Amino acid sequence: MPDDSHALHSVLTEARIFPPPAEFAAKAHIRSMEDYRRLYAEAERNPEAYWGARAREELHWETPFRTVLEWKPPHSRWFIEGRTNLAYNCLDRHLEKRRDKVAILFEGEPGDVRRVTYGQLAADVNRLANGLKRLGVKKGDRVGIYLPMVPEAAVAMLACARIGAVHSVVFGGFSAEALRDRMNDAGAKVLLTADGGWRKGAVVPLKKNVDEAAPHIPTLERVVVLERVGQGGALGPRDVSWKALVEGESDVCAPEWVESEHPLFILYTSGSTGKPKGVLHTTGGYAVNVSLTTRWVFDLEEEDVYWCTADVGWVTGHSYVVYGPLMNGATTVLYEGAPVHPQPDRFWDMVARHRVSVFYTAPTAIRTFMRLGDALPRKHDLSSLRLLGTVGEPINPEAWMWYREVIGQGRCPIVDTWWQTETGAIMVSPLPGATPTKPGSATLPMPGIKVEVLDKAGHAVPAGKGGLLFIGRPWPSMLRTVWGDEERYARSYFGEIPGKYFTGDGARLDADGYLWVMGRVDDVVNVAGHRLGTAEVESALVSHPSVSEAAVVGRPDALKGTALVAFVTVKKGVEVTPQLEAQLCTHVTKEIGAIARPDVIRFAEALPKTRSGKIMRRLLRDVAAGKESTGDVTTLEDLNVLAALREAEE
Ligand code: WTA
Repeated sequence: MPDDSHALHSVLTEARIFPPPAEFAAKAHIRSMEDYRRLYAEAERNPEAYWGARAREELHWETPFRTVLEWKPPHSRWFIEGRTNLAYNCLDRHLEKRRDKVAILFEGEPGDVRRVTYGQLAADVNRLANGLKRLGVKKGDRVGIYLPMVPEAAVAMLACARIGAVHSVVFGGFSAEALRDRMNDAGAKVLLTADGGWRKGAVVPLKKNVDEAAPHIPTLERVVVLERVGQGGALGPRDVSWKALVEGESDVCAPEWVESEHPLFILYTSGSTGKPKGVLHTTGGYAVNVSLTTRWVFDLEEEDVYWCTADVGWVTGHSYVVYGPLMNGATTVLYEGAPVHPQPDRFWDMVARHRVSVFYTAPTAIRTFMRLGDALPRKHDLSSLRLLGTVGEPINPEAWMWYREVIGQGRCPIVDTWWQTETGAIMVSPLPGATPTKPGSATLPMPGIKVEVLDKAGHAVPAGKGGLLFIGRPWPSMLRTVWGDEERYARSYFGEIPGKYFTGDGARLDADGYLWVMGRVDDVVNVAGHRLGTAEVESALVSHPSVSEAAVVGRPDALKGTALVAFVTVKKGVEVTPQLEAQLCTHVTKEIGAIARPDVIRFAEALPKTRSGKIMRRLLRDVAAGKESTGDVTTLEDLNVLAALREAEE
């Protein structure tokens, strides 16, 4: 069960309620709690009729679906016999009315700005789609995408969707090793990359990483290289220049009308065990729910300049930088670089210059800005903002209040959106024109979404009490499987209680039915809004020749939400030195990426284990959080003594 004391909530602010601003309620998509409750009740009465109606409204179906849902737990199929194409829904649909509207407003870290209209984007996507076909990419083939946050990242995703290829985007911050593992698991045929990207004034060496990984990816036939930083070096025999690939291609490419259940993408995310899971999303159900939630939660209007700061390497980038806004014909901002570069007020400067009206970011970013002080945002004209969102980790009420007062100037509603890579779309969030908000709560489920907080036996826990967060019924944008591992899909998500999806989160519902997410209850941690498996970091550590055993746990951190603490035992004869600590950190960076670098490494003579040999992670979490004293913590700790004490107690 989750431990209440780990949550960052404070009882004082929890009591505060902010009603939706009147101007909002007057013209929002959902204008009142009555509207919300009516929709919610309608969906409860007949979920299939509800989702069928939404599906017809949200998408162009080239062939209409006949059956809304087939549910054979744990497998769901949605909008059966329907055929559609997601690139068509993001582009062609808008060309009549919005050909010259800016689809992507791009700003590079060096300050270069590009405005790509819907007309231009459609042409770029079609050219690349034709180019991919020329390279032999067919419907169902997997295409890797390892690009910086540039418009071509969206072009790449949409070109795959156009021809029915399955994309698998790998975050540019992941290392060559992490890229190799993901591409091998997906069986990628083609990989789209760039010579590099800009981050904190330096070049992220994407092509160099690809060159390291490619010889170890047997399925990989071609690598397409975009020129971004002008430092790519020579192209090898496997490589094709992006420019050369698209240059002679037609800007017309008929969309492949795929079945609703045709795979759209595989996105790797961390689970409890070592290997990341390839979360598979299919076309129709994903598109319907992403399109709908984008409009309802962000209340998009024609004139909005919408900026979600996530990278396309994460699910937030897939659903709410690329697909959701484009399906809605919006202007979506793409920013390449670091939030605080070259000045700590880069974000606010961009909000002011581009007149951003809807802004969506992670609590870690908000806490960072909060720490930098009010003067920075106050220097800029933030009057264009009308709605603020957060995602990725619990937001503490203090940060929520700061976001509201200093960034939103008390004027903008805040949508704290709870969802996951696996859910595809936002599941729990305020609707800005309807839902009164409470700082720190993601509030209420979207219509059609059945949120349940249960104990291990599957009984509902009373209001105010912590429990495990489940989704009690299938929804269109749920993951369909773990790529290549059906068994893991069934076990990870439906192994706790048959027929109910287990989220891995602990949560409680208050007396008003508002959801308070308390964080992960499995061995997944949210470090600065990035999802990591402690087991992944452990296997990276033990792959170092000096390390014998490692256990990695999360520790509450005021800035990052969770910090990573690694307990390490070294092999016989290895001397523990500060150099070794630094080496281990570098090693993890090389194996996974800088986001997985432990904040603290603590060397121990032995790891505390139960009599049956299981590492006592809860004890380690307590030690890491300083709740349990281990005497001289700077040197070798005899955790076994504590372990023996703990076992005697339990
Ligand atoms: C956490 C990101 C509290 C949660 C979209 C979940 C949140 C995990 C919130 C999924 C929120 C996400 N409040 N916690 N508003 N949003 N989380 O797959 O622990 O990268 O299980 O998807 O992030 O992370 P993922």
